[in-house]
Amino acid sequence: MDLSFESTTLDIPAIRRDFPILERETAPGVQLVYLDNAATSQKPVQVIESMDFYYRQMNANIHRGIHCLAEEATVAYEDARKKIASFIGAESWRQIVFTRNTTESLNLLAYSWGRANLKAGDRILLTEMEHHSNIVPWQMLASEVGVTLDFVTLTDQGKLDQESYATLLEREPKLVSFTQMSNMLGTITPVAEMTEQAHRAGAVVIIDAAQSVPHMPVDVQELGVDFMVFSAHKMLGPTGIGILYGRKELLQEMPPFLGGGDMIKRVQLGGFTMNDLPYKFEAGTPAIAEGIGFGEAVDYLANLGMEAVHQYEQALTAYALERLEEVPGIQVYGPEAEDKGGVLSFIYDDIHTHDVAHILDSFGIAIRAGHHCAQPAHQHFDIDATSRASFYIYNVKEEVDQLIEGLYKVKEIFG
Ligand code: ALA
Repeated sequence: MDLSFESTTLDIPAIRRDFPILERETAPGVQLVYLDNAATSQKPVQVIESMDFYYRQMNANIHRGIHCLAEEATVAYEDARKKIASFIGAESWRQIVFTRNTTESLNLLAYSWGRANLKAGDRILLTEMEHHSNIVPWQMLASEVGVTLDFVTLTDQGKLDQESYATLLEREPKLVSFTQMSNMLGTITPVAEMTEQAHRAGAVVIIDAAQSVPHMPVDVQELGVDFMVFSAHKMLGPTGIGILYGRKELLQEMPPFLGGGDMIKRVQLGGFTMNDLPYKFEAGTPAIAEGIGFGEAVDYLANLGMEAVHQYEQALTAYALERLEEVPGIQVYGPEAEDKGGVLSFIYDDIHTHDVAHILDSFGIAIRAGHHCAQPAHQHFDIDATSRASFYIYNVKEEVDQLIEGLYKVKEIFG
């Protein structure tokens, strides 16, 4: 991977002009430096305007109406689904289920696939770097059904320990579920290789791609995964909408999650027949404006090219890691720039992470402080919390410099 800024094909000043929020000041004369992209990304004007247009010109319920507005809204919403399918290399739009977010997609899998396919004594293999949304639904299932959870441990560098993975696969888990990019360590995991190993051991594979699909090329067929989940709001789209991708035969066999309108073909007092994929999993009026905005976000990223997005963010990450190393007292967690996305979690001597974030905020610099919904990953390193700076396509080298200056000021204040 080329880690130099000079190699970028992206027109960063033009990209920045698409994001109105980057103009704002957080206090008089204090310009926003937004470095909390792993929590949620900002939205370009194209996404904002597409949702505004829907409400001003097209607002109607979808899949139901015969009138002009309903038809237009249905086409716009379903077009978004097709764009998302093509963005991740799915064979068919029928494999793209709209949910509320990554968390709901994982809960849907635990509830529907998990209850239908797992029984007491079965094993699920997770990792210590998972977000809580890829731990808690399985813990809930474990206490209900009696399955056992195993966790792949981490290396000192914050990668998945492949020996631990191979050993735990020998226990023949029915399901392996892990992240493609850790939201604390930034670690990019070898999904294709690990999926192949899991399949050889007879397991079904779920990939939490909440942090990867927004930042790097992802092709579900090349990776060979069975299910993949991610959210719009971390990839320039709105909140309230996410994706469950699944292999068709697996989705077809799964029982529905929520019951109600749209997920049925016919209802009689004695029972119902289910709708086709993906509607079988989409009960009730969906997030229509959000779906349309999600489609615009995917267009925006596809036009930039995900290779270019990944290359630029890795250049930023390499530069930020180099600059952070200069600051006495900073310890960054996770691997080197080559093996990680733009997520830098660190501790700063014994200064509380909330104090670090609070002082940086007074200079307009937004980072996240705390456990980032990944407490076991922190526990692995015997810490409770980290400060986390995370990047996206509109961030620039000068903002990394501002972060470093801000960190020196934090030190001045807290000694
Ligand atoms: N999962 C999001 C984060 O890492 C909210 O901050």
